[in-house]
Amino acid sequence: MVRKVQSKLVREEIMAKKRIAVIGAGVCGLGAIKCCLDEDLEPTCFERNDDIGGLWKFQKNTAEKLPSIYRSLTINTSKEMMCYSDFPIPDHFPNYMHNSKVMEYFWMYARHFDLLKYIRFKSKVQSVRKRPDFSSSGQWDVVVETDEKQESFVFDGILVCSGHHTDPNFPLESFPGIEKFKGYYFHSREYKSPEEFLGKRIIVIGIGNSGADIAVELSRGAKQVFLSTRHGSWILHRVWDNGYPMDSSFFTRFNTLLWKILSSSIVNSHLEKTLNSRFNHAHYGLQPQHRFLSQHPTVSDDLPNHIISGKVLVKPNIKEFTETGVIFEDDTEEENIDVVIFATGYKISFPFLEDLIRVTNNEVSLYKLMFPPDLEQPTLAVIGLIQPLGIVLPIAELQSRWATRVFKGLNKLPSMKNMMTDITQRKTAMEKRYVKSPRHTIQVDHIEYMDEIATQVGVKPNLLWLFLWDPKLAWKVFFGPCTPYQYRLQGPRKWDGARRAILTQMERILKPMKTRSVNTEKNPCSELSWVKMAPIGFVALASILSYYRYIYHPKRK
Ligand SMILES: *[C@@H]1O[C@H](CO)[C@@H](O)[C@H](O)[C@H]1NC(C)=O
Repeated sequence: MVRKVQSKLVREEIMAKKRIAVIGAGVCGLGAIKCCLDEDLEPTCFERNDDIGGLWKFQKNTAEKLPSIYRSLTINTSKEMMCYSDFPIPDHFPNYMHNSKVMEYFWMYARHFDLLKYIRFKSKVQSVRKRPDFSSSGQWDVVVETDEKQESFVFDGILVCSGHHTDPNFPLESFPGIEKFKGYYFHSREYKSPEEFLGKRIIVIGIGNSGADIAVELSRGAKQVFLSTRHGSWILHRVWDNGYPMDSSFFTRFNTLLWKILSSSIVNSHLEKTLNSRFNHAHYGLQPQHRFLSQHPTVSDDLPNHIISGKVLVKPNIKEFTETGVIFEDDTEEENIDVVIFATGYKISFPFLEDLIRVTNNEVSLYKLMFPPDLEQPTLAVIGLIQPLGIVLPIAELQSRWATRVFKGLNKLPSMKNMMTDITQRKTAMEKRYVKSPRHTIQVDHIEYMDEIATQVGVKPNLLWLFLWDPKLAWKVFFGPCTPYQYRLQGPRKWDGARRAILTQMERILKPMKTRSVNTEKNPCSELSWVKMAPIGFVALASILSYYRYIYHPKRK
């Protein structure tokens, strides 16, 4: 009898779904919930805020340590590149979405896959600790605070989706004299909109994406904006060649292959030449010491326009503050400064994980930037802790696909020693390539890293096979934008709509701009048709020439 009960219990335990805690309901968390459901795991998502979207939820006042954006923020990645891999963004949505549109898309995703019922809002995770029997069970004790009441849970796995834009980097100690400065100064996370800064003299410190955006926005109504940067930066623009979105032109398998074959100095020269042909970075005071691929670039279409019209003046790093202004490192001085905004970025931190993941100098030791290598059981993964030359959302989704399969036991991680070797190799490669800075500790290249994770999951598209069986699709996969659908063509959890989504992606890129019909009927003599005719003409010319050669030099035959 006892044995019967026991075996029933065992069976129930096997049958019971594994329970997974997803921490955060932002970009990464939503994808993680969906991946848990796909793998038949039981997710519970804890979200501190009262809405989904994480970073993308605009709020006028944001509590300490919650991510925060400004009212005008428009995303810097385009819709076909940044969507969930089995849920294309509607064709009429603009390519670069305002934050409210990004939220609309997240809501559509959450509703479509019925994710909301797994989310507990206003719930803050206080701590995540190993259970006493962790080495055999792999289970976690999780303490969550909801409405000032603490609750404890036991989970079989943890997906950390809390992001890395919560803890502001506000290095006042590196700015001597700041204590005597009488103006108003704050971190960019507190910046919301430009109204209260009309007519002011403002310094923005930092030329990351927020710094460039805020400087541009303020300069429209300010008396003068100064943009102070230590290193300078290469500036990419959203609107790329022929008006296509930058990322969809940039991130193709063809380019990746080309860049691999060519030396990085050739690639750098080519890219720098392209960027300088729009505006010379040296003339504009922006040229960095370092090559294009050695520093995270900034995306700003407007910055050069505002520099050439004198609304934004580019300055070096600040040496010290005075009571009313600043002295820059080139000893130039600006008086009567009203406002200083520190667009100095964020620090990586996981307060609730205590000693599980240690962060030193903004560096973390995680296998493939996801798994702590020293856990006895692989039941915790960090999602989206990456700074891609690329797009976070699809990378994070793919990470969740892998992590959920590891939790389930379908994929195995290597031994601790091999994981450590891999981590060291990644760190060395990053140090070799990038300017040493806390900003460059979690860099990845979009397609390379996606393929690396996809190989683990078994969903990396097989190009050779595609070229043999579906050349039309293969062509788009290789030469076209590397859209997330590519990772749903084959392998576990493939999506039937993936092929169609790839074949129609160009239509979705163009659709939102078709708001005025333009007659594009081709003139038979247009330049384009000449280009197309060229190879045929060449062949014809060659045949005529060889024919005449044959006629006039019959002996040679
Ligand atoms: C977009 O901006 C974010 C925030 O600054 C940055 O981390 C990301 O790399 C940018 N994306 C691109 C494609 O540059």
